[in-house]
Amino acid sequence: MNVTSLRFGAIMVGVALLGACQPGAKSNQQLGYRGTGMDQIQLKSAKLVEPVPAPPYDPPAPGGKPAREAYQNVQVLGDVSEDQFSYTMAAITQWIAPEKGCNYCHNPANMASDELYTKVVARRMLQMTQTINSTWSSHVKQTGVTCYTCHRGQAVPAVAWTLPPTGNPNSIVGNLHGQNAPTPASAYASLPNTAVAHYLIDKDAPNIRVAANGTHPTPADKLTVMETENTYGLMMHTSQALGVNCTYCHNTASFRAWNISTPARAQAWYGIRMVREINGDYIGPLAKVFPANRLGPMGDSLKVNCATCHRGQNKPLGGVSMLKDYPALRSSAPMMPAVAAPAPAPVGAGVTAAR
Ligand code: HEC
Ligand code: HEC
Ligand code: HEC
Ligand code: HEC
Repeated sequence: MNVTSLRFGAIMVGVALLGACQPGAKSNQQLGYRGTGMDQIQLKSAKLVEPVPAPPYDPPAPGGKPAREAYQNVQVLGDVSEDQFSYTMAAITQWIAPEKGCNYCHNPANMASDELYTKVVARRMLQMTQTINSTWSSHVKQTGVTCYTCHRGQAVPAVAWTLPPTGNPNSIVGNLHGQNAPTPASAYASLPNTAVAHYLIDKDAPNIRVAANGTHPTPADKLTVMETENTYGLMMHTSQALGVNCTYCHNTASFRAWNISTPARAQAWYGIRMVREINGDYIGPLAKVFPANRLGPMGDSLKVNCATCHRGQNKPLGGVSMLKDYPALRSSAPMMPAVAAPAPAPVGAGVTAAR
C-alpha cells in the first residue's frame, strides 16, 4: 500500500462521511448578487408540501337569505348567506374540533347561546382572521389564512407561547432576564427567552435595531446589549420558523441596510407588525375569557409567533391558498371594536380640529 492509495482511501472515507451528512437532492435559489453568498440551499425533502384538507363539501352558490335574518345571534358573519354560513361552520369544525364536532362550541339545545367559552373565543378568532385577510395583504398577500393555518385540526395550535415565569429576582443567581433558559422561541439559544415577548405583543414596541443611528452616534443613539440580544433572539426565531438562513432576508455586508436586503425582509417587517396586532388586540385580551387551564404561568393567553403559521416553511402550507374557498373569512364586514371607540366630540364644543 503506497501513500497515494492511502490518500485516496482517506478521501473516499471523507466523501462517504460527508455524503452521510446531507443525503438527498438539494435545491438552490439565488437571492442576491453573484458572489454575495446569498443563496438558499434546501433539501428537496424539506420542501414537501403537506396536503391541506379539502372543503367539507362543494362551496355553495352565492345568494340567499343573510345569516343575520336566518339565525338569532350572529354578530360577525351576519352578511354572509345562510348556505355560506353553514358551510363555514362545517369547515371550522373540521379545522378546530374534528372529533368533538359542533358541540365543542355549541350547546346543541340552543345554538344561539354563548354559554361555552369556546364559542366566544371562536367569534373573536373569526374577526381576527378577517382582519388578517382584509388588512394585512402586505404580509399574507392574496394567499391569506384560514383557521387551519394555525390550528391544523387541533383546538389549541401546536405552536404558541406564553410569557416565561420571571423567576425570583432575589434568588442567589439574581434576575437572569430570561438568560440561560433556552426555549424553542429563541431557537434554543442562550439568548433571552423574552425576545419574542419583547417584540411581538406591543404595537408600540421599539423597532428591531442593533446598529446605532448615524455615523457619529451620540451616547443617546446607542442601543443596549439587552436590545442586541433580544434582536438576535428574535432573528434566530424568524430563521427557524421559516426554515431559512439569515441571507434569505439580509445581505451580511450590512444587516441594517434595506436597499441591499431581499424583498422577503420587507414582507417580514409587515409580518412582525401583523403579529403584534394579532397578539395585542385579539389573543391577549382573550385571557379574560379562557379558563385557567388554558393560560400560561403568568396568567396570559397562548400567543402567536412566526412559527404558529409558518412551521418551518417560507410560506405556510407551502403557499397553498385555502382562503379562496372560504369567502366568509375574507369579508371586511364592520368589526366589533376591541375597545369601544371614544365618542366623537360634539360640534362646537370648543375642541380645535385635530391636526
Ligand atoms: C370552533 C367553534 C364552533 C364550532 C365547532 C361550530 N360553531 Fe357554530 N358558531 C360559532 C360561532 C362563533 C357562532 C357565532 C358567529 C357570529 O357571531 O357571527 C356560531 C353560530 C352558529 C349558528 C347560529 C345560531 C344562532 O341562532 O345564532 C348555527 C346555526 C351554528 N353555529 C351551527 C353550527 C353547526 C351545525 C356546527 C357543526 C357543523 C357548528 N356550528 C360548529 C362557533 C362554532
Ligand atoms: C394566527 C393564528 C390563529 C388563527 C388564524 C386562528 N386561531 Fe384560534 N387560536 C389561536 C391560538 C394561539 C389559540 C390558543 C389561545 C389559548 O389557548 O390561550 C387559539 C384558540 C382558539 C380556540 C379555543 C380552543 C380551546 O380549546 O381553548 C378556538 C375555539 C379557536 N381558536 C377558534 C378559531 C377559529 C374558529 C378560527 C378561524 C375563524 C381561528 N381560531 C383562527 C390562534 C389562531
Ligand atoms: C425572514 C426575514 C429575516 C430573516 C430570515 C432574518 N432577519 Fe434579521 N431582520 C429582518 C427584519 C424585517 C428586520 C427589521 C425589523 C424591524 O425593523 O422591526 C431585521 C433586523 C435585523 C437586525 C437589526 C439591524 C439594525 O438595523 O440594527 C440584525 C442585526 C439582524 N436582523 C440579524 C439577523 C440574523 C443574524 C439573522 C439570522 C440568524 C437574521 N437577521 C434573519 C428580517 C429577517
Ligand atoms: C397568520 C399567519 C402568519 C404569521 C403569524 C406569519 N406569517 Fe409570514 N406569511 C404568511 C402567509 C400566508 C404567507 C404567504 C404570502 C404569499 O403568498 O406571499 C407568508 C409569507 C412570509 C414571507 C415571504 C416568504 C417568501 O418566500 O416569499 C416572509 C419572509 C414571512 N412570511 C415572514 C414572517 C415572519 C418573520 C413572521 C413572524 C414575525 C411571520 N411571517 C408570521 C402567514 C403568516
